[in-house]
Amino acid sequence: MNRKIFISLIAFIICMVFSSGILLQKSDIGATAAIAYFDHQSKEFSIATDSLVETIKRIDKDSISVIEARTALLKCRLRYKQLSFFTSYFFPSETAMYNAAPKYEVEEPELELVEPMGLQQIETLLYEKNVREQREELIMQAQALKTSVADLRTLLYGFHASDEQVLESVRIELIRIISLYISGYDAPLLKSGIAEAQQSMQSMEVVLAPYLNDNKEDGLLLAKTLSSGIKYLNNNTAFDDFDRMHYLVNYALPLQQQLELFINKIGLELNTTAYLNYNAEHIFSADFLKNFDSIPPQKRKELAQLGKKLFFDSRLSGNGMVSCSSCHQAENYFSDGKKTSASLDPTHLLKRNTPSLHYVSYQHSQFWDGRAKTMTEQIKGVLFNPLEMGGNQSDVVRYVISNVEYRSKLDSLFSGRYNSNEDMNHIALAFSAYLSTLNPMNSPFDQYLAGDKKAMNTTQIKGFNLFMGKAQCGSCHFAPLFNSLVPPFYDRSELEVLGTPKTEDFTKPEKDTDMGRFDLYKIKYYKQAFKTPTVRNAEKTAPYMHNGAFSTLESVIDFYNKGGANGVGLVTPDQTLASKPLNLTKPEINAIIQFINSLTDQTK
Ligand code: HEC
Ligand code: HEC
Repeated sequence: MNRKIFISLIAFIICMVFSSGILLQKSDIGATAAIAYFDHQSKEFSIATDSLVETIKRIDKDSISVIEARTALLKCRLRYKQLSFFTSYFFPSETAMYNAAPKYEVEEPELELVEPMGLQQIETLLYEKNVREQREELIMQAQALKTSVADLRTLLYGFHASDEQVLESVRIELIRIISLYISGYDAPLLKSGIAEAQQSMQSMEVVLAPYLNDNKEDGLLLAKTLSSGIKYLNNNTAFDDFDRMHYLVNYALPLQQQLELFINKIGLELNTTAYLNYNAEHIFSADFLKNFDSIPPQKRKELAQLGKKLFFDSRLSGNGMVSCSSCHQAENYFSDGKKTSASLDPTHLLKRNTPSLHYVSYQHSQFWDGRAKTMTEQIKGVLFNPLEMGGNQSDVVRYVISNVEYRSKLDSLFSGRYNSNEDMNHIALAFSAYLSTLNPMNSPFDQYLAGDKKAMNTTQIKGFNLFMGKAQCGSCHFAPLFNSLVPPFYDRSELEVLGTPKTEDFTKPEKDTDMGRFDLYKIKYYKQAFKTPTVRNAEKTAPYMHNGAFSTLESVIDFYNKGGANGVGLVTPDQTLASKPLNLTKPEINAIIQFINSLTDQTK
C-alpha cells in the first residue's frame, strides 16, 4: 500500500515537471531542431558545391561561362549563410576552410603560412582579368571546397548541443550580419552581402521558432521584428544602394536587444566570449565591448586617477621635459597635429605619426605595426624608448616612489612594498587604467543610434551607408569602433597592406621605406602592413596614416578611390586593399567625410 502511494506520488511529480516544461527545456528541444536543420542545410550546401565544380569546369572563352560560374558561387554562398551561424559556432576551424579571407594568413609566432582557400578565394579568382588562365587553380579550389563540405555532416557524429549554445550562436550571427555581411566583408566582388544577410536572418527565424512557440507572449515583438527585417532585406537587395542605417535602426539593432531580453526571460543565457557584453543594448552601445587589459575591477578607478597624473608628468622622462601629453595632447584628441613628432634626439624626427589614444584600450595590439600585445608592454616601450621619453625602469620607479602622493596611492592600492619590477608593473597598470577611460562614445553618430534623430543630417547618413557599403571602408574599419578589431568576437586587431606612399602627390607616387610589421617578422605578406586605425575623431587628428603623409581626409579617400598603391601605380603585390577604383563621385566622397565628422566625440 505504502509502495503504491509512493509510486503514484513519483508519477504525479513527473507529470507536474513535464507540464511545467522543466524537463522539456532540459531535453534541448530547440537544439535538436537546430541540429536537424543544420543536417538538412549541409546537404543542400554540398549539392551547391557539386554544381560549382561542374560550372567551373565549363569555363571557356565564352564570357557567359564565367558569369555562370559566378552565379554558381553566389548560390553556394547563400547556402553557406543558412548554416554559418551553426558551423562558425560549433566548428570554427572547419569554417575557416570554407570562408576565410582571401589572403595568406600568418600564424604567429611559428610564422606558418595558411594559404587562402574557400569561397572567398574562389571569388577573387573568378573576378581576375584573366579568369581562363585561373581555370586549373579554380577547379582545384572548388574541388577542395566540395570535399570539405561533403564532410560537414560527419561532424554531427556523437555531437551534442544545448539550447543555450544554439541561442548564443544565433546572437553572434546577428553581430556578423550587422558588422560584416552588410558591409560586404566576405563577398566584396559578388556584392551579395544583403542577400546573404537575408538568408542568415531566415535561418534565425527557423532556429528560433521552437523557442518562440513555447514562449509566445515573450517572443511576440522579437518574432515581428525578425520577420519585418527579413521582408526589408527581401525588398532591398541592391548592395550599393542599400540603406544600412535604416536597416540597423529599425530592424537589426532592435532585434539585438529583443533577442537579449528574450533569452534572458526564458533563462537560457550563455556567454562564452571574452570581450562581448550581451547586456548592452546593441553593438553601438558604449558598454558593448570590454576593455582588453588585466586591471582588477575594484582598483580601476583609483588606478586611472593615478595614471592620469602620471600621463601629464614630465618628470618621468629621462630629461624631465617630456610627458605622454607632449605628443598625445588631450586638446587635440591625444594626437599632436604633426606629420611625425620631434624626438628627444634633436637631429631626428620620430619615424611615425602620433596616433590618437581614444579607444586604444579595446585594441588587441598596440603601435602601428602591432608590436606590443598589451598596453602595459606598450607603455614600458614608450617610457624606455631613447627617442620618446628616454627613461629607464630604475629612474622611473625611483621617481614615482619618492613622490609622496604617488607612493601613498600605490601603497593603498597594492598594500606593502614591492621590488622594482612589480612597482613598474603597477605604474604601467595605472597608465593603462587611465587610457581605458578615453572611450567617450558620445559623438553625434552615437547619439543618433541612441535615438536622437536630429543628431545626424541626411548627408552624414548617406556617408555612413557608403562607408559601410560601396566604398568598402567598413570591411577593414569594423563597426562599432571603425578600427582593426575583427567582429564578431573583437579579440584580434587586424593589419592590412595599403601601400601608403611617402607623399600625397599621387601623380608622382613614391614608395614609403617603412616596412611596418615586416621589420618584426620577415614575411613578405607583412611588407608595409599596418594596423587599421579607428576613424572615430579623425576629423580632429590630421595628418593621417602611419607616416602622416596625407594632410586631409579628401586625400585619404582619393587614395582609396584610386585603388591604393597599386591604383596609383606603385607595384604592391601583396596589397590587401582591392586595387580596383571605387568610382566614388565628388558628392559621395564629401558624404563620407561628413559621416567621419559625425564620429567626433565631445570630450569637454
Ligand atoms: C615623443 C612623442 C611621444 C610620447 C612622449 C609618447 N608617445 Fe605614445 N606614441 C607616439 C608615436 C609616434 C606612436 C606610434 C609609434 C609606432 O606605432 O611605432 C605612439 C603610440 C602610442 C600608443 C599605441 C596606440 C595605437 O593605437 O597603437 C599608445 C597606447 C601610446 N603611444 C601611449 C603613450 C603613453 C602612455 C605615453 C607616456 C608614457 C606616450 N605614449 C608617450 C608618440 C609619443
Ligand atoms: C583593406 C583595409 C582598409 C580599407 C578597405 C579601408 N581602410 Fe582606411 N586604413 C586602413 C589601414 C591599414 C590604415 C593605416 C594605413 C597606414 O598607416 O599606412 C588606414 C587608415 C585610414 C585613415 C587614417 C586614420 C589616421 O588616424 O591616420 C582614415 C581616415 C581611413 N583609413 C579611412 C578610410 C575610408 C574612408 C575608407 C573607405 C573609403 C577606408 N579607410 C578603407 C585599412 C583600410
